[in-house]
Amino acid sequence: MSLYQLFKGKGPSGFGYGSTADEVTAGLSLKGKTVLVTGCNSGLGFEAMRVLTRRGATVLGTARTLEKARAACSAVDGQAVPLACELSDPASVRACVDAVTAGGHRLDALIGNAGIMALPKLEQAHGIELQFFTNHIGHFILVTGLLDRLADDGRVVMLSSAAHSMAPREGIRFDDLAGARGYTAWGHYGQSKLANLLFAKELARRFAGTRRTANAVHPGVIRTNLGRHMPGVASFLFGLVGPLVLKSVPQGAATEVYAAVHPDVATTSGAYFADCNVARPRADADDPALARRLWEVSEAIVARLPAR
Ligand SMILES: NC(=O)c1ccc[n+]([C@@H]2O[C@H](COP(=O)([O-])OP(=O)(O)OC[C@H]3O[C@@H](n4cnc5c(N)ncnc54)[C@H](OP(=O)(O)O)[C@@H]3O)[C@@H](O)[C@H]2O)c1
Repeated sequence: MSLYQLFKGKGPSGFGYGSTADEVTAGLSLKGKTVLVTGCNSGLGFEAMRVLTRRGATVLGTARTLEKARAACSAVDGQAVPLACELSDPASVRACVDAVTAGGHRLDALIGNAGIMALPKLEQAHGIELQFFTNHIGHFILVTGLLDRLADDGRVVMLSSAAHSMAPREGIRFDDLAGARGYTAWGHYGQSKLANLLFAKELARRFAGTRRTANAVHPGVIRTNLGRHMPGVASFLFGLVGPLVLKSVPQGAATEVYAAVHPDVATTSGAYFADCNVARPRADADDPALARRLWEVSEAIVARLPAR
């Protein structure tokens, strides 16, 4: 238990900062349910897959390569189907959509969990800053491509972060998605996580009047491979104080799993969860015009990408 956990109680959901993915699914049978989890080979994605399969769900576990997905899926006890999905490569994402479709899978939930953080130098994919492309555009292609496969009461859960508050003051820099002007590691990570949040909001708006839901989550702060780009000294300090102040991986995976399968939130849509409870994001994350514009710009970016 971290020190911080001692001061954080449970919220109205009955769960809180210290709850684990095992705890938020205790007593649930997910037999017959299918959940797709991106980034299944590491950190929170692997733990989410482990717990969901343990409760009886079939998990379609995606990783950047089939090899990584296979290794992860074979490391859990339950039913896990490995799929390749390299989010910075539209051809790979589309092939993943095709594989899910060809497999005849009906998705009860889709967890957009994969992500990269704080790249020290500007990198791009298809002319777009790489964190925005990987974290948002790759998932945009995947999720919109799989809407036909989503159950009538299916749920989409996008991994955002409290770091969405580090996005530029104007929200999304639509006039510089290449990141060419004033690149900063955290500002651009924050922008990509604000995009994940706005995408869930706009999806929820589009799902209105149906039983489908879309939500975003902040998982907490957890020491995972996500910190691989952090400078050595920061990583050292993180390692030193981490056990005292950070969530464990089982605690970190709790919120995404809760949002994806817990019956209490089956009809909650357009929300931002933290510590397994509805939380408040920064003000412009609730701006429907910004969310709509992001959707339209994302569609335009995707339309310009090579078809295959
Ligand atoms: N850990 C935290 O403190 C924290 C806080 C807030 C939000 N989050 C969010 O939580 C999510 C999970 O992070 P984590 O902490 O579990 O990190 P992690 O251990 O680094 O896992 C990230 C996963 O994303 C995959 N990934 C990275 N780039 C990809 C790409 N181009 N295509 C496909 N998959 C890719 C990674 O694959 P490889 O292993 O092959 O690179 C890995 O499976 C992320 O979206 C992150 O932004 C985490």
